[in-house]
Amino acid sequence: MTKASDIFTLKNANNVEVSFIGRGGQIVGIKVPDAKGEIADVVVGYETVDAALAGDAYFGALCGRYANRIVNGQFELDGEKFQLEINNGPNHLHGGVDGFNLRVWEVEPYADPKFAQAYKLSLVSPDGDQKYPGELTVSVVYGLTDDNEFVIDYTAETTKTTIINLTSHAYFNMKGAGTGTVENHELQLNASKYTPIDGEIGTVTGEIAEVKGTAMDFVDGKTIGEACNSDDEQVKLVDGIDHNFVIDGYDGSLKLAARLKDLDSGREMEVYTDQPGVQIYTGSHFDSSETGKLGAPIEKWGGVALETQIFPDAPNKDNFPNAVLKPGETYKHTCVYKFIL
Ligand code: BGC
Repeated sequence: MTKASDIFTLKNANNVEVSFIGRGGQIVGIKVPDAKGEIADVVVGYETVDAALAGDAYFGALCGRYANRIVNGQFELDGEKFQLEINNGPNHLHGGVDGFNLRVWEVEPYADPKFAQAYKLSLVSPDGDQKYPGELTVSVVYGLTDDNEFVIDYTAETTKTTIINLTSHAYFNMKGAGTGTVENHELQLNASKYTPIDGEIGTVTGEIAEVKGTAMDFVDGKTIGEACNSDDEQVKLVDGIDHNFVIDGYDGSLKLAARLKDLDSGREMEVYTDQPGVQIYTGSHFDSSETGKLGAPIEKWGGVALETQIFPDAPNKDNFPNAVLKPGETYKHTCVYKFIL
């Protein structure tokens, strides 16, 4: 049986190293060399496993059953109304008070020739868990390739019709966690549309809007600082970026969604997914009250999460992609964080 504090490490031939723990499958470190071979830990977090267990339980964690917000925690399936646990103002966020990020996942080594090393994480969520219908059986493979891709492969099956949206909540700082903010990171998104929010709590309006001419336009790439420091009304609402972007050309196959590059160190990452959206969140609620890696305070905009996903509140928005999973079907989601060495 895996314990909350058990730590697992994936290594490849190029000194890339991914570490995670049993609780929440939380990614507690990703070590990546820059062009000169200087290694930095590029995920925001704490210096020890004990601190990770005591700290922000979303850092690097697997989120579910429904990552992101469901307005008022309510949805309807086949005419039946469901009321989920509420944990974010009037809303349901990241699977509820006892989300998948707080569960101890069963971890075992996973053999697949495409990976230098891999582990499989498993969880059974009982019928009625956080008031979701159906028993959900979830597997997540964390695999690291010798091409410096950290692959997250999700699958899930249910015993009753339900909704699902799993994601990974690592915050990246390509210069190195604890070395300052990500304002000097260039972000490029293959997303000409996004889903605007209606207030500081970040619930989506249901509109799918063009990014052109707004702070949300990352199509040609620009620094995160330029967006976060702008007067754009959507930015002001959440003091940064906390928005879902609509990946161009979504067709269920793996596509390049994002590129993130620290302009100081040159460390760069690409994000690929087969999902329709990616939540970009610049860690606006970090307030320097906690000590993180390198003994530095975890400061506002100290990292950026790129959470591949179905859109927020999709079960209540007819124009958003489908998030319903039925018995006999398999939910599948792949996310690849590829480090460019
Ligand atoms: C959401 C933020 C939320 C954070 C909690 C992100 O995925 O977009 O609004 O505050 O998770 O850690």
